[in-house]
Amino acid sequence: MTDYFLEFYKGLDRQGPGDDKYTELAFRLLEELPSSPRILDIGCGTGKQSLVLAALTPCEITATDIYDCLLEKLKENARNQKLKGTIKTLNASMFDLPFEDEEFDVIWSEGAIYIMGFEKGLQEWKRFLKPGGYLAVSEISWIRKEIPDEIFSFWTTAYPEMNFVTDKIKAIENCGYRPIAHLTLPEYGWLENYYCQMESLRENFLGRFGHIEEARMIVENELDMEMNLYRKFKPYYSYVYYIMQKPA
Ligand SMILES: C[S@@+](CC[C@H](N)C(=O)[O-])C[C@H]1O[C@@H](n2cnc3c(N)ncnc32)[C@H](O)[C@@H]1O
Repeated sequence: MTDYFLEFYKGLDRQGPGDDKYTELAFRLLEELPSSPRILDIGCGTGKQSLVLAALTPCEITATDIYDCLLEKLKENARNQKLKGTIKTLNASMFDLPFEDEEFDVIWSEGAIYIMGFEKGLQEWKRFLKPGGYLAVSEISWIRKEIPDEIFSFWTTAYPEMNFVTDKIKAIENCGYRPIAHLTLPEYGWLENYYCQMESLRENFLGRFGHIEEARMIVENELDMEMNLYRKFKPYYSYVYYIMQKPA
């Protein structure tokens, strides 16, 4: 049976809004890392962020996701690029990660912690970090007050943990981390880096699968509805990169 969702998503460079420059900016905020840090990327997808990190520094990345076809694409991309670091892929669920305590200097997760829930992810992943290690996640957040009902109810139904940047920072502190910084992804990280690419895949995908309702719904829900909502309400929400440190 064809998984149309994966068929669509594996054609994208990234599986959510984001930006290489913001991955780099977030990484440059991490101080006193070892010369070859061990990094765990959780929910890596086709691994755009792992590729950026491995181009920046001679690190050892373990990139995890639950879909082999996405991990295969990451492997292929890593083979074709000049990287300073190494990337090893592993099929593993974020709910049941097969690592020892304190294995990693850095945990990275762009646009994926929502699957577990922000606070739960912060709590459960902490044990894999060395003392003084860093966690960097991007998470959808409200960035402006007085949110119109239409978009408020859409997002709070889709993701009940959606809240304000200040709430996220409180959650970071409650989970025993030191907040280092937060960076708000600009509009182009959604429109140019993500939705534009989706739009360019649309015709080809509908040409192949448009006669199948399930496949058409993916394009209509994921692309048309979410993109139109973003265009209409973009001042109110974005992905925010949260960078935090486990106490030494
Ligand atoms: C929104 S995408 C983000 C992908 C990538 N980090 C990026 O920013 O392009 C979320 C990713 O989480 C993965 N995922 C879903 N459930 C997961 C789980 N239980 N454990 C690990 N990864 C999971 C999906 O396959 C997908 O690649």
